[in-house]
Amino acid sequence: MTNADFERLVDTSDEWITTRTGIKERRIAKNGMTTSDMAVKACKNAMEMAGCSHDEIEALITGTVTPDYKLPSNSCVIQEKMGLPQAVGFDIAAACTGFVSGLSIAQAFVESGKYRKILVVGVEKLSSFTNYEDRSTCVLFGDAAGAAVVEPCETGAGVISTFLRSDGNYRPLLWSEIGGCKYPYVPGEDPSGRDKILMNGSDLFKVAVREMGNAAVKVIEDAGLTSSDIALFIPHQANIRIIKAMAKRLKMDMSKVVHNIDRYGNTSSASIPLALDEANRAGRIKPGDHIVMVAFGGGLIWGSALLKW
Ligand code: ACO
Repeated sequence: MTNADFERLVDTSDEWITTRTGIKERRIAKNGMTTSDMAVKACKNAMEMAGCSHDEIEALITGTVTPDYKLPSNSCVIQEKMGLPQAVGFDIAAACTGFVSGLSIAQAFVESGKYRKILVVGVEKLSSFTNYEDRSTCVLFGDAAGAAVVEPCETGAGVISTFLRSDGNYRPLLWSEIGGCKYPYVPGEDPSGRDKILMNGSDLFKVAVREMGNAAVKVIEDAGLTSSDIALFIPHQANIRIIKAMAKRLKMDMSKVVHNIDRYGNTSSASIPLALDEANRAGRIKPGDHIVMVAFGGGLIWGSALLKW
């Protein structure tokens, strides 16, 4: 969907969306395509790139807030569709921080020797959960999936440091009120959009800039590095102005910052693996490069990971 499509849907303009968010278009999954369908495609691509077979995968961790069903987890649905006979699957409901959270858990599993090969997927069908009558949110979101295989690697490379933090006091800044056990759907009652994404964008903006910046600094310092050692910075794609503000704070030139929000919008937990994959395929990453990924989402929950490629 392009900004022109939204001009026909709600009271907005290409000029407002572009200058306030940096978004020009986003991908919307076609009818009938589910979150697990998108995840399966991403997982298969990741396994092909990693040269790993289905029976080698020992765990599947899915970051999503838009699962196919309430029960079971989307990981179990993905496992059924892919056939991963040796794996345990479970989900993480960490919104836009889902992939970084999954990566952090996978790193701990691999380092402890518990599992050798783990699929981590960030996937969202946010279009199923977006209020297309609310101009302040509907222009922001898109659907996507991105996956990675995490496995042991040579000493000194791989996931060097990670950081995760949440603060539930910020729940009203980004949430969905109706549809859980506290406020279930009432037959015949109009939820008035309260079963969709509800967001206080301007307050969220300030916390996002502050905490994403702090999270990036934390993993860089924990690794004994400085921001000048970082070859590539891959932030969650929520708003180009948030991305630019963080780059400024880290004194990082925008040429080192991966951003593709213009083409995909905010794809929540899929945005970081999507950007990582695009940067990799474009030849922007060399062996030995230090890469920082930083995410922020509903919870609120935020986190970061520093990789040596
Ligand atoms: N088109 C035109 N006008 C609009 C639109 C629109 N699509 N949306 C809002 N407006 C109007 C508002 O009604 C308001 O009008 P008013 O001044 O007459 O009241 C005006 O624009 C300004 O609204 P703000 O909300 O103050 O605009 P802001 O500059 O803050 O931009 C935005 C809004 C893009 C949402 C920004 O706040 C943002 O990106 N916030 C962060 C979102 C984020 O980080 N999300 C991360 C997590 S997402 C997840 O976890 C799934």
